[in-house]
Amino acid sequence: MSPENEIDMINFFNVSCTFGKEAGVRNLNFSIEEGEFVFITGPSGAGKSTILRLIYMDLFPEKGKVVIRNFDSSKIRANEIPFLRRKVGMIFQDFRLLNDRNVYQNVALSLYVSHYKTKEIRARVYKILNQVGLGHRIYYHPSELSGGEQQRVAIARALVKEPVVLLADEPTGNLDPRVSTDLMNLLAYINQQGTAVIVATHNYGLIQRIPKAKLIQVNDGEIVNIT
Ligand SMILES: Nc1ncnc2c1ncn2[C@@H]1O[C@H](COP(=O)(O)OP(=O)(O)OP(=O)(O)O)[C@@H](O)[C@H]1O
Ligand SMILES: [Mg+2]
Repeated sequence: MSPENEIDMINFFNVSCTFGKEAGVRNLNFSIEEGEFVFITGPSGAGKSTILRLIYMDLFPEKGKVVIRNFDSSKIRANEIPFLRRKVGMIFQDFRLLNDRNVYQNVALSLYVSHYKTKEIRARVYKILNQVGLGHRIYYHPSELSGGEQQRVAIARALVKEPVVLLADEPTGNLDPRVSTDLMNLLAYINQQGTAVIVATHNYGLIQRIPKAKLIQVNDGEIVNIT
C-alpha cells in the first residue's frame, strides 16, 4: 500500500475552532474517503459552514489539525494554500462571484492564476459551462443571471480545476424545487465521475435524494452522529 492510501483523503483530529467563544466547533474527529458523498447536517448555527471552511483552509483550528491528503493545517505555509485549493473546490453559501467579470472570466480566473495555457483554459471553461447548462450565458455578468444560474457559475468555477473533492455550502438555499432537483442530480453525476462531494445543509429533503450518502450530524458545534 502506498503511503497516500494509508490515510483517508480528509481527516479531522480533535479539531476545535471556536472564535474565542462558545460558538464554532469543538473536538471534531472524523474522516472522509476519496469518492464519498457526504452530507453535513444540523440546525442553523450548528457549525456546518465552519467545517467546510476548515477543509478549504479558509479557517484554521485553534486545537487539533485538519489533514487533506498531504496538506496538514498545522504545517501548511500560505504559499501552499493555492495547491490545496486545486484539489478542493468550494461553492460558498453566498456564491462569491465577481460582479465586474462575466461568466467566462469568473470560471477561468483560477486557471489563469495557476498559469494554464489560454487554449487549455478555453477548452476547460467551455466544457464545464456546457456541462452545467450555461453554454448560452458565457458573456453575461452575474447580475444578469437568475439565482439558479449564479449557483451553476459557482459550481462551474469550483469544478473547472477538476478537484478531488467538491464542497457545497447550502447549495439549494434560495432555489425553487425543480432547480434544486436539477442541482442534486448534477452533484450526484459529479460524484459518479469520481469526485467526493460534501454538502452542508439543513434541508433534510435533500438527504433522501442520495440514499448511499454518509451523514455527519452536528449540533451546537459538536458531532452528534455519523451514519
Ligand atoms: N467568523 C466568526 N466569528 C465569530 N463567530 C462565528 C464566526 N463564524 C461562525 N461563527 C459562529 O459559529 C457558529 C457556527 O457557525 P456556522 O456558520 O458554521 O453555522 P452553520 O451550521 O453553517 O449555520 P447556517 O445553517 O445558518 O449556515 C455560530 O454560532 C456562529 O455564530
Ligand atoms: Mg452555514
